[in-house]
Amino acid sequence: MSNGRDGFAGSMGALMALVGSAVGLGNLWRFPYLMGNNGGAAFIIIYIAFVILLCVPIMLAEFSIGRRSQINAFSAMRSLAPGSKWGLIGVLFVLVAVLILSFYSVVGGWTMDYLFQSITFNLPEQTKAADTFSLCTSSTFRPLIFTSVFVILSSIILIAGVKDGIEKVAKIMMPLLFVIIIALAIKSSLLPGASKGLSFLLRPDFSAVNAQTILAALGQAFFSLSIGMGAIMTYGSYVRRSANILSITTATALADTLFALLAGLVIMPAVFAFGMSASEGPGLLFIVLPEVFSVFTGGGLFAILFFFAVFLAAISSAFSLLEVIVAYLSEELKISRRLSIFIASSVCLFLAVLCSLSQGALSEFKILGFTFFDLFDTLTANLLMPIGALLMVVFVGWKMRKPDFVDEITSAGKVRVKPIIYNTIYFIIKYIAPLAIITIMICGWL
Ligand code: TRP
Repeated sequence: MSNGRDGFAGSMGALMALVGSAVGLGNLWRFPYLMGNNGGAAFIIIYIAFVILLCVPIMLAEFSIGRRSQINAFSAMRSLAPGSKWGLIGVLFVLVAVLILSFYSVVGGWTMDYLFQSITFNLPEQTKAADTFSLCTSSTFRPLIFTSVFVILSSIILIAGVKDGIEKVAKIMMPLLFVIIIALAIKSSLLPGASKGLSFLLRPDFSAVNAQTILAALGQAFFSLSIGMGAIMTYGSYVRRSANILSITTATALADTLFALLAGLVIMPAVFAFGMSASEGPGLLFIVLPEVFSVFTGGGLFAILFFFAVFLAAISSAFSLLEVIVAYLSEELKISRRLSIFIASSVCLFLAVLCSLSQGALSEFKILGFTFFDLFDTLTANLLMPIGALLMVVFVGWKMRKPDFVDEITSAGKVRVKPIIYNTIYFIIKYIAPLAIITIMICGWL
């Protein structure tokens, strides 16, 4: 890159890295259980509407701030609006990255545990799946070991840097992940009794929808697309000036949504085929699927493939979160990259311990009625990320000049984009997105 910073070598690599960040536990673990709790197809419809109408423009806003500033998320807005209070938002971004990574690594640890158990063919018989889940999550030491391994692995990938670490790994992992998940979706939809699950995915039940559902769908869309806290901004800052950011963001959103739907196609038919409940909550992925794998022939191998896929998805998202903190530490505090990675992962690991223990030993300890785990999860997805997104769209719509935004979308005239397209996107960023986010947050929280 011209300023001597590390960055993505090409647009394809940038796209794979962004898809790697977006596709993760949000798609495989969070989306299916939220959808199960919130009316199935009805939730999907609201979710997709949010992605198309709000999230793609918001992602573009975040991306443009990153690419224009070519600096870490902490300083990006400060560098575009020097001397203003906008710079303070950088603190929020780094903080949110720490909070998300803390509980995310815990679930990443569960995934590693399940991968380990499936490789050793130790996944449970039908009746014991719930016990295995509680063993993996509520014991004191076991989840901590796997969580630490998960954090250490993501740190190792980051040590190699953006071009040689993130980009290379994502280019291999993402195509592999899609192949595995498509194979699993086909297998699951062909199970005897799968049709009830399919109709749950296709027939909307709007009676389960209320203001909380809508907030949950918005929060999930932000979480799943990694928007609202500087991750897209950080990756955007590693993208070349000539790259077409409209096509990169649209393709990322499309791949992420497709992947969430595929995850639904893997999980829901199986849930219904085995007469289980779709509203199992956070245990859905971990309790239901092992039971399914335990009864069909070749299930053991499928279990390995599946948890390997979950692991790939989780780790490529985890290092995108870690990179937000690492880029801040190394560029702002001038700490070496290695030491930055060590500090960032240690802090997250410390908080991850609290999140993990809150599933067992500390489950009675609650703040505002939430355990640490639920607090970090709900606080980030339903409050801090919407606020982050709100501030970004207001920044791009009201503080940045429109020609600068257009300059980003068209990569300084190198990419041809029809005025009607960028005008519509700009209108959404300036008026619709702020109003929508504020309204949904107020209604959902009151
Ligand atoms: N989007 C990822 C997922 O769906 C999680 C994630 C990665 C994320 N980076 C993020 C969430 C930044 C919020 C912000 O699993």
